[in-house]
Amino acid sequence: MSVHKEFKKVTTHSLSEMKHLGEKISMLTAYDFSTAKIVDDAGIDVILVGDSASNVMAGHETTLPITLDQMIYHASSVVRAVNRALIVVDLPFGSYQGNSKEALNSTIRIMKESGAHAIKMEGGEEIIESIKRILTAGVPVMGHLGLTPQSIYKFGTYTVRAKEDAEAEKLVEDAKLLQEAGCFALVLEKIPAGLAKRVAESIEIPVIGIGAGHHVDGQVLVLHDMIGISQEFNPRFIRRYLNLYDDIKGAVENYIRDVKAKEFPSNKESY
Ligand code: KIV
Repeated sequence: MSVHKEFKKVTTHSLSEMKHLGEKISMLTAYDFSTAKIVDDAGIDVILVGDSASNVMAGHETTLPITLDQMIYHASSVVRAVNRALIVVDLPFGSYQGNSKEALNSTIRIMKESGAHAIKMEGGEEIIESIKRILTAGVPVMGHLGLTPQSIYKFGTYTVRAKEDAEAEKLVEDAKLLQEAGCFALVLEKIPAGLAKRVAESIEIPVIGIGAGHHVDGQVLVLHDMIGISQEFNPRFIRRYLNLYDDIKGAVENYIRDVKAKEFPSNKESY
């Protein structure tokens, strides 16, 4: 029997209710008005305006170059499209690591200038003070542990994190600290499924996985990976529901052929 509950507007409280009802949380990225509208109309629970926009939208190799102004631009486009989903925005690299005041100021800019509902930050113990300060301003915070792409140059590679005991234990401790600090949910990226299960069972807040197995409370993917617009990125955790790269390329090739052959526009398509 399905335990699916219909929420008119998804809030941080809805997500907590879903965890306790055993209903899995669905989350996808969106960075612009048109795709955010489709994703929201389809009934997604959470839209993440991820700093993966740096890779997907701008073509950078890492998430580091995207700026706070650019994140606000993406987030405000998404906000204009969405009626139901909870909208979470990544604090970009360099907008919060300085100190908790910087973290709060960046958060306030995102909330005021985009109209989003919550922010997400990468890190554990080292960002606890910032999380607490942001929460005193009434802004919900989502945590992010495991593979944290803003630290790619520290890790050196995008391989699975926390396979060794010491890193796994640290991750479990960090997850508890994030919950105690007041995070409403936590993203776990690219860690062993068994470890993700242990975290999801040891904390009350919803745990949303990407490459973290199915024992967590929800799943997130980058939309462009899941609909097959991006082609080069092929980790095993991506399920491609469409092959839009090929479909769009085929359509563009047909259009070019029609233009060159003087078959577009027809009389019916003209005034
Ligand atoms: O920026 C992003 O898209 C993310 C997800 C991969 C969780 O942080």
